[in-house]
Amino acid sequence: MRIKAVVFDAYGTLYDIQSVAEVTEDAFPGYGEIITQVWRIKQLEYTWLRSLMQRYQDFAVVTRDSLAYTLRVLGLDYEKDAFARVIEKYLHLDLYPDATAALIALRPRKLAILSNGSPDMLNALVRNTKLDRLLDATISVDAKRIFKPSPAAYQLIGEELGTAPDEVLFVSSNPWDVAGAKSFGLNVAWIERVTPEAMALACVETELVAPLTMFKAIRTQMDELGFAPDHRVRALSELPGIIRG
Ligand code: LAC
Repeated sequence: MRIKAVVFDAYGTLYDIQSVAEVTEDAFPGYGEIITQVWRIKQLEYTWLRSLMQRYQDFAVVTRDSLAYTLRVLGLDYEKDAFARVIEKYLHLDLYPDATAALIALRPRKLAILSNGSPDMLNALVRNTKLDRLLDATISVDAKRIFKPSPAAYQLIGEELGTAPDEVLFVSSNPWDVAGAKSFGLNVAWIERVTPEAMALACVETELVAPLTMFKAIRTQMDELGFAPDHRVRALSELPGIIRG
């Protein structure tokens, strides 16, 4: 395959969404893990619900609403400041340790992000983590006012980069995003960070299944949607190897 552009999902793929766990624990001692997991589950759910309802609000609103939901259902009272501190972390998420080196190794192909994130959130995050120096484009679904996995969202890649679907390698760790991109017609690499073996082990190791294990079971394993990725890799660092050949 002749790959002209490598396009990445942002949250969970280049950026570790679990890196909010420190600030959620700091703001709400004892609740960090449950907040982190319910928040992300609800955040994605709201993108799909809003898309189906045709009531688009951008990802910044969805991220705030899903955090408000999470804190309310856990019965947590909070000051505006604590809420703002937790939300702020979304502009400073940790990059996966191999992200920058992988991007550098994939040059001179065009490199971009296609994310559900709002333009403001994404631009700040990319700037704060210095990826702005490496990316040719940071594409937000906001231009279409509908979230991935709508085909309209993936269509933005061609519109922004001038590429045909088969010239693009789309990279995501999110199984629903892999299925959506594959259904649209892109070449897709899945970053499979949690193996089924590790998953099975996590479920038998403890009597009580931790919120993180529950999250992994729901959101890290390949979905039954009838679409499989073209490539399964364990880390971003393996990407240069699959398109060199
Ligand atoms: C993204 C999230 C939703 O589109 O993973 O970056």
